[in-house]
Parts: sequence; structure tokens; C-alpha cells
Amino acid sequence: MLTIALSKGRILEQTLPLLKKAGLEIADDELNSRKLILDTNLDDVKVIIIRATDVPVFVQHGAADMGIAGKDVLLEHGANNLFEVLDLGIAKCKLMVAAKSSDHLNENTLKVATKYVNSAKRYFEKQGQSCEIIKLYGAMELAPVVGLSHCIVDLVDTGNTLKANGLIPLDHIEDISSRLVINSASFKTKNTQIKTWISAIENNL
Ligand code: ATP
Ligand code: PRP
Repeated sequence: MLTIALSKGRILEQTLPLLKKAGLEIADDELNSRKLILDTNLDDVKVIIIRATDVPVFVQHGAADMGIAGKDVLLEHGANNLFEVLDLGIAKCKLMVAAKSSDHLNENTLKVATKYVNSAKRYFEKQGQSCEIIKLYGAMELAPVVGLSHCIVDLVDTGNTLKANGLIPLDHIEDISSRLVINSASFKTKNTQIKTWISAIENNL
């Protein structure tokens, strides 16, 4: 049995057609049910649909053999016990620094609101900029507007959310897209099955 962890929400919409092309389908009644482990068209493959941030956790611990998650989530989580094998080229965006203006960027200690605590810390350390990270779980764009932080580190795609809140992009940290990740032990024990899936997905991108 092979278990695949999928991120629910935005990534899922773009993942399902991609898996279908590779030969894996989940029936609508499974998708719309309250079940947490879903059957597929194949007897030897099950799918779990979980929060994006939980995907690397399930894969790292071998509770899922493979998973699909955003590079933002993977950078934040770290690469323990998992291999990133394929860039799926979906859910593309950029991890950026943004603020009302560049005025505050010379503060001795920059206040940064983000849910990407580790990525933000790494980035500002590299810049030699001391910072105080304020962890948020969403609506980061609000933080500079209400004076909670000097800037944010968040995902930007069209730039509409920044613009709507009077923020400007200041610095690019990483290009983000969704990646296929494999549990390192599963890669050995289920090598043939996993390699077949990697090829099937890659050949249909
Ligand atoms: P959670 O439910 O765990 O809080 P979330 O609300 O961030 O996650 P989504 O908004 O569905 O979940 O985003 C999931 C993934 O989609 C992100 O990790 C990122 O890789 C990608 N993503 C997020 N925002 C964008 C965007 N504006 N454009 C393209 N891809 C995005
Ligand atoms: C993401 C991200 C930004 C927005 C950027 O939010 O956190 O707020 O998309 O996209 P844009 O540049 O095209 O406007 P999302 O819509 O996932 O909402 P959430 O942060 O509340 O999950």
C-alpha cells in the first residue's frame, strides 16, 4: 500500500488534474465525504488530504510515503527524512519582504510579521539585519498597516493583496511552487512503486 499526502485548499485544485493525468483518481463522493483516508481508483494507493503545513510532518514520519506541498512550507519545515524529487510547477508565487515603504528597513531591530518564522530569520540573518519576528497565522498584510510590524514576509502572486493594503514588495526571498516529496525510508522499501509514480507524474507535467 502507498499513502500519498495532499495539501488541501489552493494546491489540491491544481494537484488532482495532475494526478489524474498520471493515472490516479479520487471519486467525487470520496472527496466530498468526511473521510480522512480516501480510496482511489487503484487498490494499492490511498490518499490523505490534510493542511498544507502538515504534509511534510506526515511524510517525514513515514505516515505518508509521498506528499505534495509548497516549497514555502518545505523551507519552513526542513528536509529531515524526506527527499524533494520533483518541482510540479503549480501554485507558483514568490516569498517576499513587503512594507508600506522602504523607510523603516534601517531600523536597528526590524519588526517582521510572518508565518514563515524560520525562512524570515534565515533571510535577515544573511542580510546582517537584526529582527524581531512576530508570528502570525494569516492576514500578514494587516500588520504594517496597524503598526504591529515594520514589514512582512509573505507570499506574493499577482501583488493584488499587497496593493489593496497599501504595501509594496521590497525584496525577493525565494521562488515558490509545489513539490513532490518522498519519505526517505519508503524510497528504499517501496522503490519500484515510488519511481513508477515519479515518472508517471513527471511525464505528464
Ligand atoms: P493552512 O490551511 O495550513 O493555513 P494556507 O491557508 O496557507 O494553509 P493555501 O492558501 O491553500 O493554504 O495555500 C497553500 C499553498 O499554496 C501555500 O503553502 C503556497 O505554496 C501556495 N500559495 C499560497 N498562496 C498562493 C498564491 N497567492 N498564489 C500561488 N500559490 C499560493
Ligand atoms: C496568499 C498570501 C497572500 C496572497 C498573495 O493568501 O498569503 O496574502 O495569497 O496573493 P496575491 O499576490 O495574488 O494577492 P491566501 O489567499 O492563501 O489567504 P491566506 O493567507 O488567508 O491563506
